Amino acid sequence: MTRPDAPEEGGAGEAARELRDGLAKIGAEFRASLAEASDEPSLRERNARWVGPGGALTRLMKLMPKVPSGERRDLGKQINALKTEVNEAFEHALVALERAAREAELAATPLDVTLPGRDVRAGRLHPITRVRYELLDIFGALGFDVADGPEIDLHENCFDKLGFPADHPATDMQDTFYITREELGASATTLLRTHTSTIQIREMLRREPPLAIVAPGAVYRRDDDATHSPMFFQIEGFLVDEDVSFSELKGVLTLFARRLFDAEVSLRFRPSYFPFVEPGGEVDVSCVFCRAWERDAARTAACGVCKGTGWIEILGCGMIHPTVFRNVGYDAERYTGFAFGMGLDRIAMLKYGVPNIRLLYENDVRFLSGF
Ligand code: PHE
Repeated sequence: MTRPDAPEEGGAGEAARELRDGLAKIGAEFRASLAEASDEPSLRERNARWVGPGGALTRLMKLMPKVPSGERRDLGKQINALKTEVNEAFEHALVALERAAREAELAATPLDVTLPGRDVRAGRLHPITRVRYELLDIFGALGFDVADGPEIDLHENCFDKLGFPADHPATDMQDTFYITREELGASATTLLRTHTSTIQIREMLRREPPLAIVAPGAVYRRDDDATHSPMFFQIEGFLVDEDVSFSELKGVLTLFARRLFDAEVSLRFRPSYFPFVEPGGEVDVSCVFCRAWERDAARTAACGVCKGTGWIEILGCGMIHPTVFRNVGYDAERYTGFAFGMGLDRIAMLKYGVPNIRLLYENDVRFLSGF
């Protein structure tokens, strides 16, 4: 192996010859090579073939220490001259390439600034969110506060304190999603709340009457068909004070329905049973699809939504049962109150004419962008 700092005497003449031949060869080749480059990366790559760390000229320079001292000066000059030439040719070619690129850009089809821009697709609120905001607005204007509660709650808040008997069908495994937390023991059975009535209990436990509250939220049931989803949304409303009567419940719900549907709809109260109200009822609103309140009998008879009845069920309600008051420590002799609960999904379906509840949960933009 040759060591530049210790030139072998025998190789000196050979090194000088090799260097001179190399210089002559490079001089002829590099111009042609640089001229062939059609873009900047290829020009740089070609340039490196001569003057880069492994380039031909660099390799030749490494022979210098082996050249006899008498010839070094002359050969050194030649090398430097060639290096300058390569560098100049490179700079030259670079400028030429840049100019050509700019000219091509100017000669190309001009940018049409009159073309229409690309649309930015604006997002919008989900129909259930819109309905929730709307209901909160309506009840807010009537003086109701808004409350919230956890989606996982105690069996006690969901059923027992509301007066459900221990063997009530709603508490069946078939209807309710139980969550086992063994460390809490049997007295603290937890579940995904099946209704927002849990918030009646929670709020009454921490506040004293008078109170008027609405509470929207997700609820869960083992139910799944065209009008039922295992997760859906409800809004609960309740009001407690002295001397609250059923007529106030009717008044509040009638006002609510007229504002919501922006029409002179009527309400029909039918007796029904919920363990936490007495009397309890279900409320139907006159059908907003055939505009039943306008009493066009033929149109109503043909309506597929209310099936010709002119009524659509929208909520459950009633006067809060004295048992509930006792369970939260209220004086059941002094206070009365009403409560109601309805499905936000159902209201959204009625308000926007959505035929299948699943559409509300599939997140298909073709459906969602229609609102
Ligand atoms: N919680 C009942 C349900 O989910 C609705 C309801 C609420 C009924 C308040 C009466 C009073 O079916």
